[in-house]
Amino acid sequence: MPSETLTIVDNRTGRDYEVPIADGTIRATDLRQISAKEGDGGLMSYDPAYLNTSSCRSAITYIDGDAGILRYRGYPIEQIAEEASFLETAYLLLEGELPTAEQLAAWEGDVRTHTYVHTNFPKFLDGFRYDAHPMGMLLGAIGALSTFYPDAKHIADAESRYLQRVRLIAKMPTIAAFVFRHSRGLPYVFPRNDLGYIGNYVNMTFEIGGRHEPNPVLQRALEILLILHADHEQNCSTSAVRSVGSSHVDPFSAVSAGIAALYGPLHGGANEAVLVMLDEIGDVKNVPAFIESVKAGNGRLMGFGHRVYKSYDPRAKLIKKVADQVFEQTGLNPKLEIALELERIALEDEYFVSRKLYPNVDFYSGLIYQAMGYPTDYFTVLFALGRLPGWIAQWEEMLNDSEQKISRPRQTYVGHDVRDFVPMSNR
Ligand code: ACO
Repeated sequence: MPSETLTIVDNRTGRDYEVPIADGTIRATDLRQISAKEGDGGLMSYDPAYLNTSSCRSAITYIDGDAGILRYRGYPIEQIAEEASFLETAYLLLEGELPTAEQLAAWEGDVRTHTYVHTNFPKFLDGFRYDAHPMGMLLGAIGALSTFYPDAKHIADAESRYLQRVRLIAKMPTIAAFVFRHSRGLPYVFPRNDLGYIGNYVNMTFEIGGRHEPNPVLQRALEILLILHADHEQNCSTSAVRSVGSSHVDPFSAVSAGIAALYGPLHGGANEAVLVMLDEIGDVKNVPAFIESVKAGNGRLMGFGHRVYKSYDPRAKLIKKVADQVFEQTGLNPKLEIALELERIALEDEYFVSRKLYPNVDFYSGLIYQAMGYPTDYFTVLFALGRLPGWIAQWEEMLNDSEQKISRPRQTYVGHDVRDFVPMSNR
């Protein structure tokens, strides 16, 4: 008998049950034995939007929302953002440990040799309209990769999984850059494997006429932003990747499901909403009136609040530092002044303080991306680029977890009882 148990008394029948508690959870399937009458199937837990349901055991990312803690594989995000490269972070998430110098060199080498996409790929992208949304193009393009690599369906083969992981991490920047160029009607720039992961991506995005002057400060800032987005445990898009992947589809299809989830404004689109809000406010002098209208219930202060973080979002603190470095290079974004004033007032205001509303990761990221030259509808593509290692790590963890099966929630049926079909003439 486990030392930790929960005793449940069913007041419908007077019977009591003892179920084990492990890692602060009870198993929902243990409730099935609690039955009021023969054939009722037993008790289920009802949890729309999974507000209090743990769907997996995971060793990848740890979050303590009350204390504002985020760790990848045990390492604090602050230290990773300070010390690591994006590919090193990806390695950590995927393999569970920091790479040695040789392991990192081998990993970077593998990624570097897979950056090209099939020559049919540009033709495929050309099929999109000139004004197609970058996220729509990205999700279609990543899904289409599965048709180029039919071997990706061998998901039980660890060697094949490694190859698909390398392909995804290597080709995503190429495809993201092609999507950017397509939106602008610019010719595609092919990967340059003499450049690093971030340098190559930025070059493919911004090179004009064979020229691009790299700015190391901006490139490191972009790298930090990608690192900060690399994983965030069971968020909407990661759950989508796990859920779709649980059907044993290939990883390109599973990741494209994650991109689709991220596309939604409640998930990846909030930084775009921050910029729209700052435009609406227009001037620092309008900030107090705007705060009052939010408090009166007219809309929300975008980029504030988080489902999990209730003291502060550790990523927001780091991003603010990055913003200072970026604006030193690009000159001040006039919207920054409005953002700073909003933050100052909100952090002192009883309404926001009592509701534990602090700036989240999206409050400053949009301003930084804009200063770097990315259009607002492209911001979520950058989020996807950052989140990719997390999606793949979680997908692999799900496949290697012997407790996982095809994802298939139950439901509480609230519709009609059985009734006879009514012919059209009688309706
Ligand atoms: N501005 C003003 N009031 C807010 C805000 C906000 N940004 N966020 C929450 N509140 C208020 C709510 O009105 C509610 O007040 P009440 O108790 O008087 O009714 C209270 O704070 C609690 O809000 P909930 O909606 O219950 O909080 P929840 O955890 O469900 O929502 C969310 C979290 C969606 C992030 C919310 O804070 C929000 O909408 N923020 C703005 C959008 C945003 O920045 N999203 C990005 C999130 S980060 C990411 O996804 C990468």
